[in-house]
Amino acid sequence: MLHESISDAEFNRFRGFIYDHAGIRLSDDKKILVTSRLSKRLRHYSITSFGTYFDLMTELGREKEQQIAIDLLTTNETSFFREPKHFEFITNEIIPKINRNKRYRVWSAASSTGKEAYSLAMLLDDKFNNTLWEILGSDINHTVLQEAMLGLYQQDRIDGIPMDYLRKYCLKGKDEFEGKLLIIKRLIDRVNFIYVNLTSTLPLDELGTFQLILLRNVLIYFDAETKSQIIKKVVLTLESGGFLFIGHAESLKGFTHGLIRISSSIYKKP
Ligand SMILES: C[S@@+](CC[C@H](N)C(=O)[O-])C[C@H]1O[C@@H](n2cnc3c(N)ncnc32)[C@H](O)[C@@H]1O
Repeated sequence: MLHESISDAEFNRFRGFIYDHAGIRLSDDKKILVTSRLSKRLRHYSITSFGTYFDLMTELGREKEQQIAIDLLTTNETSFFREPKHFEFITNEIIPKINRNKRYRVWSAASSTGKEAYSLAMLLDDKFNNTLWEILGSDINHTVLQEAMLGLYQQDRIDGIPMDYLRKYCLKGKDEFEGKLLIIKRLIDRVNFIYVNLTSTLPLDELGTFQLILLRNVLIYFDAETKSQIIKKVVLTLESGGFLFIGHAESLKGFTHGLIRISSSIYKKP
């Protein structure tokens, strides 16, 4: 597919924009990504220049268009029960030791379309055998948050869900929902989704505190300073004895902010 071309100067303007608004660092080789993701907005406005689109998007009163650009420029790849070793750790090491008299709160920070949050909900419903738990999912991308709230997914993108959980927690779509899978209402009701930009001041009152935080596959988009600032803020919302998970390809080397390393992707607050 042919795309409108973007000059280096135009690319740098979008690069600055997504860094300022989301902390995301785009390397030089992301020019094609920016072109292909934003070209539909150029077509929407019947314009052919990325520079004109940038000017239009950053005009005062165009916050909605800016959010559309942010949604298009974030990468939202996710899957159910992604990085299964984390879910094994939760099952074997965390759930048996949860204080059953206290509400168990989990935060799926940078939750994308919610597959991570619903995987946790299935696990807690099945293994915890207690109703005192809740899950919060958050993301900077409004489009994925709306998908997450619906709990409705393409049937061909549900690979990681174990067969017994598919039967127990998912409904197969019929008629207009043919080819889709819906998470059962009882689980949808246990998971809330809100907008949180991890690079801004965290809404601490709205968030509350957590015993488990999953901050997976998002740190890779940030530079070292941004990563460190985010971990520092996120750790404030983690209760003593609580766990923080990062993605297997990510690292907290040099900025653990007081956390104890359990493995390369699992940390505990003393
Ligand atoms: C690759 S997905 C990871 C989803 C999930 N945690 C997982 O591991 O499967 C990264 C998510 O981080 C979100 N994100 C990027 N920058 C963010 C920021 N500054 N604040 C909050 N979320 C952000 C993106 O919108 C995207 O949905």
